[in-house]
Amino acid sequence: MLMFMKSSYNEMRKAVLEKIRPKEEEIQQIREAAAETIEKIKKKGYRAVLVGSAGRSTCIAGDKDLDIFTFFPKSMGREELEKRALKLGKEVLGKNAKTHFAEHPYVKGYICGFEVEVVPCYEMKIGERPRSAVDRSPLHQKYVMKHLKESKKDDVLLLKQLLKGIGAYGAEHKVKGFSGYLCELLTIKYGSFEKVLAAAQKFTCPFIFIDPVDKNRNAAAAVSEEKLALFKKRATEFLKTPALGFFFPKETPVLRGFNEKRTIMISFPVPRVVEEILWSQLERLKELLFRQLKISGFNVAKALHWSDERKTCLLAFEFKEKNIREKYLHGGPMVGDEQNVAAFKAKNKANVCFEKEGRLWCWRRRERTDAKKMLVHLLKTIDVPSHFRIVIKKAKTQ
Ligand code: CTP
Ligand code: MG
Repeated sequence: MLMFMKSSYNEMRKAVLEKIRPKEEEIQQIREAAAETIEKIKKKGYRAVLVGSAGRSTCIAGDKDLDIFTFFPKSMGREELEKRALKLGKEVLGKNAKTHFAEHPYVKGYICGFEVEVVPCYEMKIGERPRSAVDRSPLHQKYVMKHLKESKKDDVLLLKQLLKGIGAYGAEHKVKGFSGYLCELLTIKYGSFEKVLAAAQKFTCPFIFIDPVDKNRNAAAAVSEEKLALFKKRATEFLKTPALGFFFPKETPVLRGFNEKRTIMISFPVPRVVEEILWSQLERLKELLFRQLKISGFNVAKALHWSDERKTCLLAFEFKEKNIREKYLHGGPMVGDEQNVAAFKAKNKANVCFEKEGRLWCWRRRERTDAKKMLVHLLKTIDVPSHFRIVIKKAKTQ
């Protein structure tokens, strides 16, 4: 590689990392929130550890989920574990915490602005069969802490962000892509972000990466054929012509099908509420705006609400026209209806009234004819659903 190209590549790498690497202050806050939770759990007589990306500083800045695993004795039956875990979770996270049901139930709540999950597990040793799917997580923690060098954490972050950018990050059903843990394993095996991309050419389907803490498990089991192919394609393209757009694509994937020129987007931070409320209030906000836009004379072709449930909420409105006429015709009463005619004339003194086909009309002027200005105005004046009142003040309209 030419010297020039190499230095501009390094600059781009640095620019991406500056955006996605959690600041020292954020790491400190994570540590404090985790220590506080673990201490509370300890007081109730249980041992707990922080696992997941927050526990090993491989989390993307702003991704504020803390996975705290609580150990229960192996001799305890499932039912007893579930009962105790739920009670413990509620005691530690407060009564606003919510119960979620995965393989076994866990409790999710908030501490110091962080989403905290208190997950029960059985303690497992390497080589042992796990009793539940989550039992491996504390071992993943140990494995990554031991094998991933401090200097390679940036490589994990770059890999995660690239996968996010192309829509292949996350093992959940919605994505069927690469989990955070798999990103760490790939970085450990190949040595750097760029080397993982180079190695990707040889990945075959089904993609198999044996979990080093449990040889019976494929750590890449969630990766679908489609997402593997996508990753291989983008990796090749990136190595040929690296660009910021791979990490931060301009087009929001959800806006496919919208006419960009006629669309206005409003984005704002995610309020701290449970998912069901987030989605229902976000939808209500969209409908409220939709109705008000219509009343104000705008013709909205389609509207969309979306959130990544972590950082950003998005509303989008595609307009028939972004600018509407200032003057519009306003219909009044029939000319014979004397009482209402008088009222109409009194109310429209400033406007020229005229008669047509037995009815009274007048031209009125709209205060706002620009869709974007209208939306900005509406956001300030409508009755925003309760949980959005604060975050909406940070709304960006574009
Ligand atoms: N885990 C796993 N396989 C998955 C999902 C999760 O083994 N498909 C385990 C890993 O030990 C992981 C932990 O559960 O570290 C926490 O899961 P999650 O929060 O989904 O992943 P993180 O590694 O924390 O990554 P992120 O930065 O996306 O939170
Ligand atoms: Mg996590």
